[in-house]
Amino acid sequence: MANLSTSYMGINLKNPVIVAASSISNYVDKVKQAESLGAGGLVIRSLFEEQIQADGITMAEFMERAAYISPEVQSPIFPPLAHGGPREHLMWVEKTRNAVKMPIFASLNAVNPGTWTSYAKQLEETGIDGLEVNYYTVAADPDTPGSDVEKAMFDIIEAVKAEVKIPVAVKLSPYFTSTANVVKELDKRGVDAVVMFNRFLQPDIDVDDESITNAMTWSTPAEMRVPLRWVALLYGRVKLDMALNTGVHSGRDLVKALLAGASVVQVASALLQNGLPYLSTLLLELQNWMEEKDYESLDEFRGKASQKNTPNPFGFERAQYMQLLMSQE
Ligand SMILES: Cc1cc2nc3c(=O)[nH]c(=O)nc-3n(C[C@H](O)[C@H](O)[C@H](O)COP(=O)(O)O)c2cc1C
Repeated sequence: MANLSTSYMGINLKNPVIVAASSISNYVDKVKQAESLGAGGLVIRSLFEEQIQADGITMAEFMERAAYISPEVQSPIFPPLAHGGPREHLMWVEKTRNAVKMPIFASLNAVNPGTWTSYAKQLEETGIDGLEVNYYTVAADPDTPGSDVEKAMFDIIEAVKAEVKIPVAVKLSPYFTSTANVVKELDKRGVDAVVMFNRFLQPDIDVDDESITNAMTWSTPAEMRVPLRWVALLYGRVKLDMALNTGVHSGRDLVKALLAGASVVQVASALLQNGLPYLSTLLLELQNWMEEKDYESLDEFRGKASQKNTPNPFGFERAQYMQLLMSQE
């Protein structure tokens, strides 16, 4: 049997398939099932500061309404009730961490700089193995130049890195002007891994209602081409590890990610669509492919099709684009 073990952010994983942050982590039983089906690790869904804020407001409004109906709610007999902030999520993370042996990563999306660091520290204290910074933001302000958007992210990352001792990954948007430079800057700041890429939910428009709709859709294998290109371009040029995310739907996709140079893949849609046992199928397909090719370990072929190692280094850049367009009738 080929050896699938790998290292990611300095953590040993028994294989390179990580369950991406998603609803799978909503149930401890599912996390346990993912482990028994062979997952290399799992990212718990994000702690969202905005969600905590919204819950806090809802609770305050409820208390106000309750006090109006029944004034003793705010009387000295009842101690003042305040929303628990991130405590529920933190308890959940700790419970999940303790329920399994595989590496568990927490994910954080905050808004205010002070919250990024304080929540990061509190997540670290739950015993997680690593922290994923889910830097999910849409740069919608026409007056903010790209350099400011990037600086804001770097400042947050530097602060989080200074606050925690566990390894830190940054889950990136695919929409930077110079993705390669952003990754290099994160590398310089000692970030342990990048997750390429987050999959932004794109709003749609309902033409009957003339309104905006937001439906959750699964990714498709075609979407993997974007992270595949960037992993292949950056392999061997940065120290940090790269987790390829978005569009991994089969064992062959997993092989492609490794050939491009990914340390690991993260998978959500394929597991939600096909059920968690599909994890074993992905791993079996990887095993079979390695056996067919006589590979005993991932390092024997990781990065073989990266820009640095491929005999056709222009394949990942623009030159090929023109040839392809010219060859179409
Ligand atoms: C139901 C669901 C919930 C998700 N929740 C989170 C989350 O809390 N934090 C996060 O960073 N990504 C979240 N994601 C995004 C996934 O982690 C992943 O980046 C994305 O789905 C692309 O991977 P895929 O092509 O394998 O689906 C979620 C995705 C789904 C489908």
